[in-house]
Amino acid sequence: MTDLMAIAQTYQLWVIEDCAQAIGATWQGQKVGSIGHIGCFSFYPTKNLGACGDGGAVTTNDEAIAHKIRVLADHGRIESYYHEAIGVNSRLDALQAEILSIKLQHLDQWNALRSQRATYYSQHLCDIANLHLPTVPSGGKSVWNQYTIRITDAPSLPTAPPAVGRDRVRSSLQQDGISTMIYYPLPLHQQPVYLQQAPIHPLPIAESVTHQVLSLPMFPELTSLQQNQVVEALRKLSTEKTLP
Ligand SMILES: Cc1ncc(COP(=O)(O)O)c(C=O)c1O
Repeated sequence: MTDLMAIAQTYQLWVIEDCAQAIGATWQGQKVGSIGHIGCFSFYPTKNLGACGDGGAVTTNDEAIAHKIRVLADHGRIESYYHEAIGVNSRLDALQAEILSIKLQHLDQWNALRSQRATYYSQHLCDIANLHLPTVPSGGKSVWNQYTIRITDAPSLPTAPPAVGRDRVRSSLQQDGISTMIYYPLPLHQQPVYLQQAPIHPLPIAESVTHQVLSLPMFPELTSLQQNQVVEALRKLSTEKTLP
């Protein structure tokens, strides 16, 4: 963010932070969502602060932007039945707001528990070959919405398609009753909607990482017994050479 803000300042750009997975995270002690001009948060149920349905919030220190966002989120309405813009219906439901305000009181504790779970994974998986673990740059504090590893195929499998290792590991874990997710199976620039709109511009790193990523179980209530099962299952795959 420091580098990004410097570039933005030089070229007079707006910075919109996508904090959907990062509520409570900090960079150099500053909360994400307060560093750029606008921060966008998601309260989708899988997020660290999840509603029992959809929801979200926008943060900004700019009064004019705050006004505009309030208007846009309320069908462009400035007062009852007077519309100054074409907006959307994106009001936060009162019931969701109530649920979120109760859950918000627990957020720091839940984030700390996620952090402990992440440390456990990192300590117990670090010696397994071809597993690449997530790291946090110094100065940053992650809130671990996901613990996403990368699985790369060994050089002994030069002709294997890139997904072989990851997909094999995923289905073996599934057979052991361990659910994992792929965030995300198709990078943004290859989504059908964008393919229709613009010529495809290759992004080779995003495209190859898509075939390597695997998000392990991660939530505050994850017990050490469950986490140990994940670790042992991965270790077993490594010994059996299912893991490349
Ligand atoms: C990084 C990121 N950005 C944006 C979104 C979109 O959030 P919402 O579904 O609340 O609009 C998500 C949700 O999955 C996300 O993970």
